[in-house]
Amino acid sequence: MNITTPINKMLNIEFPMIMAPMFLVSNEAMMKAGIDEGLMATFPTLNYRTKEELVQTIKNLHTYQEGKPGSFGVNLIAQRSNPYFEKHLEICIDHKVPFFITSLGNPKKVIEKVHAYGGKVFCDVVNMEHAQKVYNLGCDGFIAVGQGAGGHSGPNPLQILVRKLKNKFDIPVIAAGGVADGWGMASMLALGAEAVSVGTAFIATEECTVNEGYKKAIVDADMEDIVMSNKISGSWATVINTAYAKKIGNKQNFMERMLSNNSMTKKYFKMWIQVSGMKKLEKSIKPGNYKTLWIAGKSSALVEEVEPIKTIVDRFKIELNQAFEDLEKLKTPANLKL
Ligand SMILES: Cc1cc2nc3c(=O)[nH]c(=O)nc-3n(C[C@H](O)[C@H](O)[C@H](O)COP(=O)(O)O)c2cc1C
Repeated sequence: MNITTPINKMLNIEFPMIMAPMFLVSNEAMMKAGIDEGLMATFPTLNYRTKEELVQTIKNLHTYQEGKPGSFGVNLIAQRSNPYFEKHLEICIDHKVPFFITSLGNPKKVIEKVHAYGGKVFCDVVNMEHAQKVYNLGCDGFIAVGQGAGGHSGPNPLQILVRKLKNKFDIPVIAAGGVADGWGMASMLALGAEAVSVGTAFIATEECTVNEGYKKAIVDADMEDIVMSNKISGSWATVINTAYAKKIGNKQNFMERMLSNNSMTKKYFKMWIQVSGMKKLEKSIKPGNYKTLWIAGKSSALVEEVEPIKTIVDRFKIELNQAFEDLEKLKTPANLKL
């Protein structure tokens, strides 16, 4: 079953789903498969280290999406600590990327520049305070990031965050975190979200080029196997509780906490933590690695095998239909059977 919400028209896509941006994980093959399935396929600009690579990828995706049911976008970390922010923004603006997701920091500049050529900017939000700030700056919509989402998940349950945003604001809400099947997607649409953003479920795919151990760990993981760690970036993120993750621990020690909180050291310590965490992640993702530091959300528990992206999206549509049919049946008491 296909679904139409205001997002389809707004983002020029056929299915109201974002393939979420994933640091070191999103790649061009995944983007193209997402575009084929009518999704808004996104990637973090930080996945590309050179200007040439980023420009080439954007050009390739522009050409690829022509006449296709989906589209593409980028994720920009708008924080001052991102040394590539200005450069990546300029490249994306020059090449008129149609859709942006900003995370952290102040997205003012992104919103102004992208709106100038008619692009759309959605901002990651985890609470109402940040939502109000980016709303005041004129963002086109929110990516509501809830508890247990892959990466830097939010502190709040998604069903509460989505409703709070819907009750207060008049712009679209895209629900992110824990959606890995059509039932999850139906529940978010029922809450009023205009679309969902799916990350973890797209790691265990044939198009994704992370090492096989990472994919298998997602397939094997249950809810308890995903834990929160602040060892990678200094902020809390979801990781698979592998032997290596257990060995390095998931909480900063006394010394690290002290350096993070001291006004003289915190800026440099945070930068150091981020660089060393990034190196560990990079090693873990490559084939033949020995370190197993893997980011994944609680939705891993719903992932049962490594499949092509098309199979996953097709199943989402079947399950979505099933969920709506099941709910419809509840209107007729005669249908109620255990
Ligand atoms: C491996 C991984 C890397 C991620 N990297 C980023 C990122 O660079 N920028 C970002 O805004 N979100 C990032 N996220 C969060 C996703 O964009 C999305 O919000 C999240 O995956 C949704 O929850 P789910 O994993 O339960 O589907 C990442 C998530 C994962 C699993």
